[in-house]
Amino acid sequence: MNVLVTGSSSGIGETIARTLVEAGHQVVLMARCADRIVSLAKELNGEGAVCAQAVPGDVSIWADCARAVDSGLQSFGQLDALVNSAGTWVDAPFIEVEPDEIQDFIQTDVTGAAQISRAILPALQKGARGRIIHINGLQGFIRQRPPVLYAAVESAVRGLCESLRWEAASYGVHVGLITLGSVANTEPATPEPSVLHQEGKRYRLSRSEVTSAVLFMLLQPTGVNVDEIILTPLGQGW
Ligand SMILES: NC(=O)c1ccc[n+]([C@@H]2O[C@H](COP(=O)([O-])OP(=O)(O)OC[C@H]3O[C@@H](n4cnc5c(N)ncnc54)[C@H](OP(=O)(O)O)[C@@H]3O)[C@@H](O)[C@H]2O)c1
Repeated sequence: MNVLVTGSSSGIGETIARTLVEAGHQVVLMARCADRIVSLAKELNGEGAVCAQAVPGDVSIWADCARAVDSGLQSFGQLDALVNSAGTWVDAPFIEVEPDEIQDFIQTDVTGAAQISRAILPALQKGARGRIIHINGLQGFIRQRPPVLYAAVESAVRGLCESLRWEAASYGVHVGLITLGSVANTEPATPEPSVLHQEGKRYRLSRSEVTSAVLFMLLQPTGVNVDEIILTPLGQGW
C-alpha cells in the first residue's frame, strides 16, 4: 500500500509512518519541518529501495497539498490512502486566545484536513479502493465544555468525514475517523505499559496503540468501511 501520512515529522504521524514501512508499505511523509522528514525518510529507506519519500509542506497551503500528492504519484505510481495526522492545538481559555492562534488552528486542522482530502481524492478514485483516515479528538463530541477551539475544530473535522464518507463511497473511496482520548507525548523505545499508568490507573494511550487502530482501518477488505474508531484510555472521562 502507498500511503500519504501528514504530520509525520513527529508524534502519532511519525509512529504511523514508521510502522507502515516496517510492515512493508510505502509512505509519503508530509510536514513543515523539512529536516525531520528528510532524515526520517533517509533512515527508513536505509540502503534498500525507496519506501519513504519526504515532501516538506503545509497542509493549510493548497499548492503544498497538490505537490505532496504529485510527488507520491511520481515516486510510487499510485496512492492508496491518506492518513491525516497533521494538527496543532491551543489550550488557553478562549478569552485569552490571540487572533493569529485562532487562524493557525483552523487553517491547519480544518482547512488542512479539507485540502489534503480534496487533493488526494482523484488519485484514490482511480484506484477504486482508496482510504482516507483523519485523526481527531474527543472534543468533537463533548462540546459542552472547554477548550472551546478544540470543540469547534474537531466538530468541523467530524462533519467533513461524516459527509465525505457518503460522497466518496459513490466512487469507491472509504473514509474513516480515528477519535482519540489522551495520548502520551513520549513513546518508550520498547513499549512499556507501566509508563502509561499512574497509581494503578491508565491515563494515556501510547502512539503504537493508536497506530494499531489506524492499521486495522487501513487493512480492511475493499468495500468494508470502518466508519470510526473511538480510542480512550480506560476510565478517561468524556
Ligand atoms: N496527542 C493527543 O493526546 C491527541 C489527542 C487527540 C487527538 N490528537 C490529534 O492527533 C494529531 C497528531 O497529534 P500529535 O500528538 O502527534 O501531535 P504532534 O506530535 O505535535 O504532531 C503534529 C504533527 O503535525 C504537523 N503539522 C502541524 N501543523 C502542520 C501544517 N500546517 N502542515 C503540515 N503539518 C503540520 C507537525 O509537523 P511540523 O511542525 O513539522 O509541520 C507534526 O508532525 C493531531 O491532529 C491532534 O489534534 C492528539
